[in-house]
Amino acid sequence: MAVDFAVVPVAGRGTRLLPLTKSQPKEMLPVGRKPVVQYVVEELARCGIGRLLFVTGPGKTAIENHFDIDVELINNLRETGKEELLTELAFEREDLEYFYTRQRRQLGLGHAVLCAQPVVGSQSFVVALGDSIIGLHAQSEVVRTMIEKYEATRAVAVIAFEEVPPEDVIHYGIAQPRDGGHEVFELGDLIEKPGVNEAPSNLAVASRYVFSPAIFDYLKRTPPGKADEIQLTDAIRMLIRDGRKVLGVRLGADERRFDIGNFESYFLAFAEFALADPQYGAALKNHLKGLLQGAR
Ligand code: UTP
Repeated sequence: MAVDFAVVPVAGRGTRLLPLTKSQPKEMLPVGRKPVVQYVVEELARCGIGRLLFVTGPGKTAIENHFDIDVELINNLRETGKEELLTELAFEREDLEYFYTRQRRQLGLGHAVLCAQPVVGSQSFVVALGDSIIGLHAQSEVVRTMIEKYEATRAVAVIAFEEVPPEDVIHYGIAQPRDGGHEVFELGDLIEKPGVNEAPSNLAVASRYVFSPAIFDYLKRTPPGKADEIQLTDAIRMLIRDGRKVLGVRLGADERRFDIGNFESYFLAFAEFALADPQYGAALKNHLKGLLQGAR
């Protein structure tokens, strides 16, 4: 059966975005007109995902509410002559089945994925981080490509990678390709936040994965690493060291990963999406030009 199940971890505390994230999930922060996690869900639906499990945690109920069908709001828009706004709620009717589970202690991304095991069971699945958008100008199909490669090969994992400037490798998990790092390549290793001179490539993990359920056994055996958290990267490295096949897929030329996990990349993401807004983008651009020229 084709992979149609996705796990979206949204349980992290988002401490790098305090105070913004004190009482609201970072996955619900606005980027242009939508909250981050809505872009993620729409991307997954477009790529053939039909069932989606959120791994949530304390203070994250806004995410559950966002994906409910709000009949009261729909009726209110109809009754008050605001039918044109109903299109803004079209995402509620995506052909998706939602599931929710809790990560009761925030022990890292790897642990959040492990919390999905009782629901995922023995099927293969996608992991898409709830705080990262793949866009902006392409409606990303990378997850669909990753599923196709996963199904066509005997890989146990397929990971999306984005080319980053050489000086930025220090922030990411970086691929060591076995075979040159073409559009689809086999991973020889994955190095977490290497120095600029030690980095084996400039291909950074881009927050989308396809896994065989074998990953759960590896996550259970992964000792806590940095900050006492169970790191997904460590489990993937164990897979590779065991001789299991792990593939990398590059993002398309017009696709980029927008990480909403820290203020620098959040501000950049918001600015780019707002500038691309069909209604207000041009006015914002003029305003920014004025600011930059010191006219305002
Ligand atoms: P991050 O690696 O950015 O961690 O999460 P974080 O804890 O949310 O943020 P900081 O470091 O405190 O600022 C990447 C994705 O993994 C989820 C987050 O919700 C986010 O979507 N995550 C992270 C979990 O679900 N559980 C965790 O324990 C950690």
